[in-house]
Amino acid sequence: MAALQKSVSSTLMGTLAASCLLLIALWVQGGAALPISSHCRLDKSNFQQPYITNRTFMLAKEASLADNNTDVRLIGEKLFHGVNMGERCYLMKEVLNFTLEEVLLPQSDRFQPYMQEVVPFLARLSNKLSQCHIENDDQHIQRNVQKLKDTVQKLGENGEIKAIGELDLLFMALRNACV
Ligand SMILES: *[C@@H]1O[C@H](CO)[C@@H](O)[C@H](O)[C@H]1NC(C)=O
Ligand SMILES: *[C@@H]1O[C@H](CO)[C@@H](O)[C@H](O)[C@H]1NC(C)=O
Ligand SMILES: *[C@@H]1O[C@H](CO)[C@@H](O)[C@H](O)[C@H]1NC(C)=O
Repeated sequence: MAALQKSVSSTLMGTLAASCLLLIALWVQGGAALPISSHCRLDKSNFQQPYITNRTFMLAKEASLADNNTDVRLIGEKLFHGVNMGERCYLMKEVLNFTLEEVLLPQSDRFQPYMQEVVPFLARLSNKLSQCHIENDDQHIQRNVQKLKDTVQKLGENGEIKAIGELDLLFMALRNACV
């Protein structure tokens, strides 16, 4: 009986070990074969932190009160025009990069204390997307991003304020596109 038990358990151990090896093999193989676009993902938990979510929305709200141009929308349907679902995280990565470098950096002294908390949060997300690329031609994406950049630049400082006022939309668009 003891011998039988022993042989059953060693068979079980053997099976377990074999499946572990198989899992590791699959994992390694999967890792090597993963398409580049698999880096275009953010964990849901990034968007489930009540404190920083609140700070992001408060920052957007404060800036939008200072935004006197209500007929221009930066993060809306036009931005996604012609861009399929699988490419949208990459698109948002590009928008996030522009927002950090060309909008939040020049305005970093304003809208405190929210700004100093929200910038590192968004910079972390940007960093997590640093390996996100798409394999196909990305001209149509760059064109849409360029339109957003042109609009912000044309409006000057008001454009930057407007972009900050839309950080709530940026947050939600990133979540929708990358989670
Ligand atoms: C953020 O939190 C403050 C209080 O901590 C609250 O008054 C405010 O309504 C919240 N704002 C948003 C957009 O959730
Ligand atoms: C909006 O405010 C800026 C100054 O902050 C001013 O230069 C601009 O003329 C204003 N635009 C409108 C439409 O009121
Ligand atoms: C923005 O993109 C450039 C070019 O890919 C990169 O060097 C830079 O670190 C990015 N900036 C941020 C804030 O992610």
